[in-house]
Amino acid sequence: MLGPVLLAASRSDRMRRIVAAAPVTRPVVDRFVAGDGLAPAMNSVRALTASGLTVTLDHLGEDVTDRATATATRDAYLRLLEALMLEGLGPKAEVSVKLSAFGQALPGSGHEIALENVRRVAELATEIGTTVTLDMEDHTTVDSTLAVLAELRERHPGTGAVLQSYLFRTEEDARALAAAGSRVRLVKGAYKEPASVAHQEKREVDRAYVRCLKILMAGDGYPMVGSHDPRLIAIAQELAARHDRKQGSYEYQMLFGIRTAEQRRLAATGERVRIYIPYGADWYGYFMRRLAERPANLTFFLRSFLPN
Ligand code: FDA
Repeated sequence: MLGPVLLAASRSDRMRRIVAAAPVTRPVVDRFVAGDGLAPAMNSVRALTASGLTVTLDHLGEDVTDRATATATRDAYLRLLEALMLEGLGPKAEVSVKLSAFGQALPGSGHEIALENVRRVAELATEIGTTVTLDMEDHTTVDSTLAVLAELRERHPGTGAVLQSYLFRTEEDARALAAAGSRVRLVKGAYKEPASVAHQEKREVDRAYVRCLKILMAGDGYPMVGSHDPRLIAIAQELAARHDRKQGSYEYQMLFGIRTAEQRRLAATGERVRIYIPYGADWYGYFMRRLAERPANLTFFLRSFLPN
């Protein structure tokens, strides 16, 4: 049961220091993260979009505890959007944001600060013809994130959000968001959640995913199937056919570096496939969640500590 231990470690500052200082960490991180800065991230954007894929970029960072860092995150996204605009990549590349990196958890007016910051990003995204998707973090943030979504959609109707099938509440949220113009990325969920709010068994999370996907595919919105799970991808294809959805009226999304052959295979069949590209120096939390998802990744990581 390494997953929960790794998820707990993903929020430990002590573990962060140990893992980040280990010289062998970097090559493993590079498998999941497209570099520390904008320049290497843009190289990945160019390569992936040239090969027929679309992308969404995440400037890594989360759980920000001061206003200056929240503003710096916003500015990093503005620079990213400017870079996309300069290369005319707007429609093929969008951005994913974590509201906790925009100040959502700041005491008192965190919700308003995050909204104000992300609004600037949404304005520039709209100007260059692209969109913002709000990532979903732990369950305590869902109400605030969905409220920000509703506010942003008034002026920027293309703004999307993520729903996590492991949360008991998600079927209801999916029903509320399965309306025309709404973009919803459905994922299983990557945080450590208590049994009072979330399914704990993988089988239950997968079943809930199918129930939510049925709601989204039957609705009038734009479902974004965020999973690498071959069974769920096959079910998504069946549901799309059942609801007479044409390719391009929904899309598949996968993470940078994971199941890359499947990403290309799906795109070659004419499906729209979007790759989530994380970049930036604050990779620790994201990296630990990827290790937690798959014990084999941890083995690979630990093996790199052994002498050759
Ligand atoms: P599952 O974990 O069952 O994996 C299926 C198969 O995919 C595995 O057998 C393996 O082959 C491969 N695989 C999956 N994860 C892997 C890994 N880390 N390393 C190597 N292979 C792996 N979560 C969240 O809580 N909030 C969010 O906003 C997002 N955003 C997001 C965006 C996108 C585009 C994706 C694809 C995922 C997210 N997630 C997320 C993460 C999501 O919740 C989930 O943890 C992962 O996608 C893993 O679940 P799968 O559906 O891939 O299935």
